[in-house]
Amino acid sequence: MSQSDSSQYTWAGRFSEPMSDLVKRYTASLSFDQRMWRQDIRASLAHATMLAKQGIITADDLTDIERGMAQVAHEIEAGHFIWSLDLEDVHLNIEKRLTTLVGDAGKRLHTGRSRNDQVATDIRLYLRDAIDDIAILLDEFQSRLLDLATREAATPLPGFTHLQVAQPITFGHHLLAYFEMSRRDGERFADCRRRTNRLPLGAAALAGTTYPIDRQMVAELLGFDGVCENSLDAVSDRDFAIEFCAASALTMMHLSRLSEELVLWMNPRFGFIKLADRFCTGSSIMPQKKNPDVPELARGKTGRVYGDLMALLTLMKGQPLAYNKDNQEDKEPLFDAIDTVTDTLRIFVEMIPGITAHAENMRDALRQGFATATDLADYLTRKGLPFRDAHETVGLAVRRAEQLGLDLAQLSLAELQQFSPLIGEDVFAVLTVEGALAARNHLGATAPKQVVAAIARARRR
Ligand code: ARG
Repeated sequence: MSQSDSSQYTWAGRFSEPMSDLVKRYTASLSFDQRMWRQDIRASLAHATMLAKQGIITADDLTDIERGMAQVAHEIEAGHFIWSLDLEDVHLNIEKRLTTLVGDAGKRLHTGRSRNDQVATDIRLYLRDAIDDIAILLDEFQSRLLDLATREAATPLPGFTHLQVAQPITFGHHLLAYFEMSRRDGERFADCRRRTNRLPLGAAALAGTTYPIDRQMVAELLGFDGVCENSLDAVSDRDFAIEFCAASALTMMHLSRLSEELVLWMNPRFGFIKLADRFCTGSSIMPQKKNPDVPELARGKTGRVYGDLMALLTLMKGQPLAYNKDNQEDKEPLFDAIDTVTDTLRIFVEMIPGITAHAENMRDALRQGFATATDLADYLTRKGLPFRDAHETVGLAVRRAEQLGLDLAQLSLAELQQFSPLIGEDVFAVLTVEGALAARNHLGATAPKQVVAAIARARRR
């Protein structure tokens, strides 16, 4: 191989034959790690600044590197940069172009560094930025939920267990359940960010480097909270990415549950909500159809994020210390999880204000489901009947009402008194939906008053 041919390959000195195209394609990561180019440049500039301050490269080298990197960034941004598969990944592509632009200073950039600590740093920077975007989206999603809950704080909705009408709740209360889930999701991402935000650079290939580097300085320049304390761990573990995928899987699981409810509620048998047309699609064959495609897709995409989590866990489990090329496979699942959870949250932020509640249909469903039966049992218990007996008494009353095709509140007093002499005029106050709702009046319960208070607390947080 001539000098000019071999210079194509960073490690050509040691090798006697070039790579086949197949191996090149198989080992390259360029197609998917390109997206970290900003982080790669940011980290390189911090590294070079530290090298110059420590006297490992000269101030002139640093000036050249800074000038060259500005040009590289400009070329990539403008779409003029020529990416080469021969250069395997984003790191080598950028370094090679820098060297073409500024000569020897570019060749000195890699002093005291390896692609192993470089890539680990880039991913952490990338993920940190992604988590910050997700945190903003989660906040927006939560405030959309609060807006809708405020509007529907007193709207009665059948609460289900086993997907059968159980007791009346308010739609606002139901929405606040998702608010709480989402808040915990946010906590998990914030927690994951703390462990992601540590600097691997300085670990070099695996053992550290012989140059007098200042890792603390690089950490500060890049906004890391600290450095990874063990060089072998720094270059090899990807637990932070796994944690992120776990947090993403849980977030998607919650969004998927909400999606499932939106799909059910849109079905005319429920008819509880209308979803704005822009989140639905029609059918190519059935002219009458309006399908809730967006929530269905969110439900479906949850599976791929679970897959991303499994892929990363499995990727990691068999690896001996320290870096192995297996780790190059961390990026696609991680990026997929980032993209999926980010896009899905973005969709929900837009979709929630597109929900209209059909309060009449919610109330009809409540009537058909004897939702205030527990309230009647509680009423009898308050009048001295042991709860188990009250339960049985009400069961008989429900059976009678069902035969008559009436709701409990529609039975006459005389009819109700056949089941228990303890029943009086005041029973109708507890049999109404409003009565049942207002009676559940304590922290965390569904009374409209409590829902309003919960929303106020949530807004303060
Ligand atoms: N593209 C590689 C990756 O994503 C960069 C690190 C390569 N290191 C190495 N020793 N081959 O992991």
